[in-house]
Amino acid sequence: MKTITEVYPVIWKGDRVLLIDQNRLPIEYITVEITSLEEMAQAIKTMIVRGAPAIGISAAYGMYLGAREIQTENKQEFLSQLEKIAQLLRATRPTAVNLFWAIERMLKTVRQASGSVEKLKQVLLETAQLIQVEDLQTCQAIGEHGLKVLPPTPHKLRIQTHCNAGALATAGYGTALGVVREAWRAGRLERVYADETRPRLQGAKLTSWECVQEGIPVTVITDNMAAHCLKLGMIDAIVVGADRIAANGDTANKIGTYNLAIAAKYHNIPFFVAASLSTVDFKLATGAEIPIEERDPVEIYQVGDTRLTPPGVEFYNPAFDVTPAELISAIITEYGALAPTELIKLREKQVF
Ligand code: MRU
Repeated sequence: MKTITEVYPVIWKGDRVLLIDQNRLPIEYITVEITSLEEMAQAIKTMIVRGAPAIGISAAYGMYLGAREIQTENKQEFLSQLEKIAQLLRATRPTAVNLFWAIERMLKTVRQASGSVEKLKQVLLETAQLIQVEDLQTCQAIGEHGLKVLPPTPHKLRIQTHCNAGALATAGYGTALGVVREAWRAGRLERVYADETRPRLQGAKLTSWECVQEGIPVTVITDNMAAHCLKLGMIDAIVVGADRIAANGDTANKIGTYNLAIAAKYHNIPFFVAASLSTVDFKLATGAEIPIEERDPVEIYQVGDTRLTPPGVEFYNPAFDVTPAELISAIITEYGALAPTELIKLREKQVF
């Protein structure tokens, strides 16, 4: 495997997990020690760790951290206690399907395994590690396939992205930023335009930080500047990640992605979604069925210690929106880039 970034948001340390505290970046780079199921659930909820694949990986380790505390030698009793652990983790964040996918994979694997409870605990740890390693390989494959579909241009590419779908959001390479990284290494990238991504500012804080780590030129714009930049011909392609993709290709991603896709269609700029097959929820026929997380309004009305709005105002704070498949030029997966209508062909490849 190629050497990749030095940014690993989730690190297994032999008996505990270290998470990069993504709420502290870019002001400070600190890691948080996670030694229990409850700490992991809280870290996912409070977005110390975030981004669909990274949430899945963290939940998988959370399952192990919970499982190792179970005091029984009886397999049935072990599995029934494990289901309670799964339930606690499922309740952390509702939209990113990787969370549910990873939990189900852990449960399925352990149900099929044989041996003592001690052995089953070991199987859980190994499965979490496997999910993590596979994600690195998956993201690299996404990057390589993405490079092939980026449009030919007489100059180097200016790629816009929204939120953070990078190393921090995955095992350590990125989906949308995986494509960006491949373009950079191939000498095809001029710069990244990173949407600030209100209200939590993942673009301003995290995507820009990741680009700076690697020397990739990056320009941060506020979300409401996107259509203007597209109109001026400043952007050649848009690549975003995904939190859940329905069977018809409708894609849930960070709030504001839909606005960007509409603006891209109007200006005839290709709009790509980069995501692993584990982000596709074939059980959902369309994006209308994707649950959308609503978060605390404080994310809207307060910046740092400053309250922005007068008392008496109400708020609506959906964390994600759904971009209809017809606005998406292609979905770039580890199996190649497909038209959203073709996504269904990959169904049998989704083993878990
Ligand atoms: O709320 P977040 O920060 O977890 O949202 C993250 C995103 O929307 C990402 O674009 C998505 O999870 C893809 S990460 C490869």
